[in-house]
Amino acid sequence: MAKGALRVVVIGGGSSYTPELVEGLIQHHHEFPVKELYLVDIEDGREKLEIVGAMAQRMVEKAQVPMTVRLTLDRREAIRGADFVITQIRVGRLPARVRDERIPLAYDCLGQETTGAGGFAKGLRTIPVILDIARDIEELAPDAWMINFTNPTGMVTEAVLKYGNVKSIGLCNLAIGTRMQIASMADVDRSLVDFEWIGINHLNWATKIRVGSNNVMDLIWDRAARNGMSVKNIPDFGWDPAFLRSLGALPCSYLHYYYMTDTMLEEERESARTVGTRGEVVQRIEAELFELYKDPNLAVKPKQLEKRGGAYYSLAAVELIASIYNDRKDVQTVNVRNGHILPFLPEDASIEVNAVIDSRGAHPIQVTTPVTPQIRGLLQVVKAYEELTIEAALHGDYGSALHALTIHPLVTAGQTAQKILDDILAENQTYLPRFFQ
Ligand code: G6P
Repeated sequence: MAKGALRVVVIGGGSSYTPELVEGLIQHHHEFPVKELYLVDIEDGREKLEIVGAMAQRMVEKAQVPMTVRLTLDRREAIRGADFVITQIRVGRLPARVRDERIPLAYDCLGQETTGAGGFAKGLRTIPVILDIARDIEELAPDAWMINFTNPTGMVTEAVLKYGNVKSIGLCNLAIGTRMQIASMADVDRSLVDFEWIGINHLNWATKIRVGSNNVMDLIWDRAARNGMSVKNIPDFGWDPAFLRSLGALPCSYLHYYYMTDTMLEEERESARTVGTRGEVVQRIEAELFELYKDPNLAVKPKQLEKRGGAYYSLAAVELIASIYNDRKDVQTVNVRNGHILPFLPEDASIEVNAVIDSRGAHPIQVTTPVTPQIRGLLQVVKAYEELTIEAALHGDYGSALHALTIHPLVTAGQTAQKILDDILAENQTYLPRFFQ
């Protein structure tokens, strides 16, 4: 990559998370000198873009870095000449997320942003839009890197890898967040923390966890069992210690939905009745954040942003692009094409594993932990669900959609799956034209 005037484009720039990203770009400006930061949004997001954009401008001025912030609703104009395009969109915005959560709950199934029927609905809405963005990049900035944070990240990344023609990597905050938690527990710098990360996005397990040369699996199992190792958006009920040890790995927080379904469903039902679903809670946090962002005297990321689940996403993004830009060859956890890394999944599937990052991209590292049947089985079925969902989104195919939901472990199969699907389609008609042609 040519060194010089760098242009970073953020699609979904009006997100309440953007100040965290801007903070990261400011702090790492010496290793990754962004000259132009384009924040892009759609007409519906104009007001948010203007508020967040003004906030970003104040942050940059206060930090006195030579970076120009530009706001636009013209995605193509921003992409033309981009070096990195970060996607962080939410098609249908938060009201769609709330519907994704409430529809499955009405049928006694889990309703979650990325997992189960909720994630399925988000995938259907998002995949066609992401592929449009990929096509714009291919046409207008063919050398640019597409860094995808858009959920459901695994499926979205897989769709781009299969059907796009751009250089792309999918990213999530979970691995870096886990690394930070372990570092703080052991009171060491995170560079000393090491683990293998096996799986697909939001369905992964950490193994061989080490701090320096010490294997700390026992310590981490104890801590995780007692709780305190989750993300803000997932209630942490801890784990059964014997179950954890027999698993042989540390499951990510999203695995609570699979391994403790009754408890999680009960919690979701109770929250939906009282404080609201997570999407409804997030709507209130966002309203509070946007009030703060409007303050012309605020020029640093506010503390309230820590109530969101995406902590460290900025660090993940900035470290990835800085390593590509500087050809660093360090190891990071990313979503990439499987190839032969997990031989029991399709080669063209996206997986989330450690990879060496250099100027040519992410090169996944061979997993050395033997993948046990309990992990392999879940991965295979959820990956098959993802594959079917991508096909359904792309072709508006009812049959693939129904089979996707039918095989998902968190959706009651048969008639319930069909009822949930019909409700999702009815409630998302404007976003799913391919299903209604
Ligand atoms: C987690 C996930 C992200 C997700 C976020 C939701 O950290 O890894 O993919 O977007 O939480 O947080 P929220 O505050 O929107 O519920």
